Amino acid sequence: MSDLIRKSVQAMSGYVPGEQPKDADIIKLNTNENPYLPSPDVQDILSMIDIAVLSRYPDPVCMELRKVIAELHGCAVEHVFVGNGSDEVLALSIRAFVERDGSVGYFDPSYSLYPVLADIEDMEKRPVPLDAGFGWRMPEDYSASLFFLTHPNAPTSFGYEKAKIESFVSSFPGVVLIDEAYADFADENCMDFVQRYENVLVARTLSKAYSLAGIRMGYCVGHAELIGAMYKIKDSYNVNYLTQELARVAILDQDTMKANVQAIVETRALVAEKLSELGFEVGESKTNFLWVKPLGIGAKALFEALRKRKIIVRYFANDKRTCDHLRVTIGTAPEMFAFLDAVEAILNEGG
Ligand SMILES: Cc1ncc(COP(=O)(O)O)c(C=O)c1O
Repeated sequence: MSDLIRKSVQAMSGYVPGEQPKDADIIKLNTNENPYLPSPDVQDILSMIDIAVLSRYPDPVCMELRKVIAELHGCAVEHVFVGNGSDEVLALSIRAFVERDGSVGYFDPSYSLYPVLADIEDMEKRPVPLDAGFGWRMPEDYSASLFFLTHPNAPTSFGYEKAKIESFVSSFPGVVLIDEAYADFADENCMDFVQRYENVLVARTLSKAYSLAGIRMGYCVGHAELIGAMYKIKDSYNVNYLTQELARVAILDQDTMKANVQAIVETRALVAEKLSELGFEVGESKTNFLWVKPLGIGAKALFEALRKRKIIVRYFANDKRTCDHLRVTIGTAPEMFAFLDAVEAILNEGG
């Protein structure tokens, strides 16, 4: 049977997404989703959609949606690619920009999907270890065909100095895809680089700040030739009709997105302060999650004790650089108070 499956596929491990429990009374802080409702316009348009349109194929190039994104970022539609989640944008960028004997780079730790995507295409992986405090570290002589630069980074929640990123992209020989899945929660982003550097793509998603992980929509902005290459190789109808419509109205309603982000940023500060008071190491988050190193209890023990109390956070067991940390998504304020109460109770019980 195994003869039927590509050797590289047999050898690779697939991506393991965060758990999606069905139990309604679980406090779910493990996959960096947004706890607030998306724009009310999403509900309105959903109620108004005529099901007759669903018998037709959707617009293969998402023109109306791209117009809204182009307007948002002050560019032309030729500079915008829309995908079935930013995961699709990442996968297509490997297929469009990396030759068979090319290589895929990314920081370690960063988004754990990148090595899996490289494995799927059987490409060489060139991870760059971040420094001991998970800060920027780029060897002088480093090169790769495509570099995935998560900014702000996940799972660490930290941003990098923009000047360092700019100096890197300006001399990098290949394509740099700056994965800005969490940029709406940060005070700066790299969208302006796409106007100055032909080799830069900036990817965004509606899964985080826009509270729309369920519709699967992500996009990237960059040079028209790079975008054109991605359009050449994508599936014919990669973004379904409902997603195109819901994403369009959600992006038009910047106020709702910004209000939700503001609430998360405020809760984030509160939780970070409280965990620091408990002695935890908490880095300065630029995202909708915190990267914390517990004190007085191991990360694994805390993860398991929280789980028993129906609170799920993310624990990366299999990596020695990350296994003493937990990644905690910022939920609603009541969810986070319940989380903090549980952490205190667990610490008081001694684990
Ligand atoms: C850094 C990063 N990029 C991309 C994604 C995926 O986004 P999407 O839901 O648009 O596929 C995630 C999801 O957690 C992420 O953390």
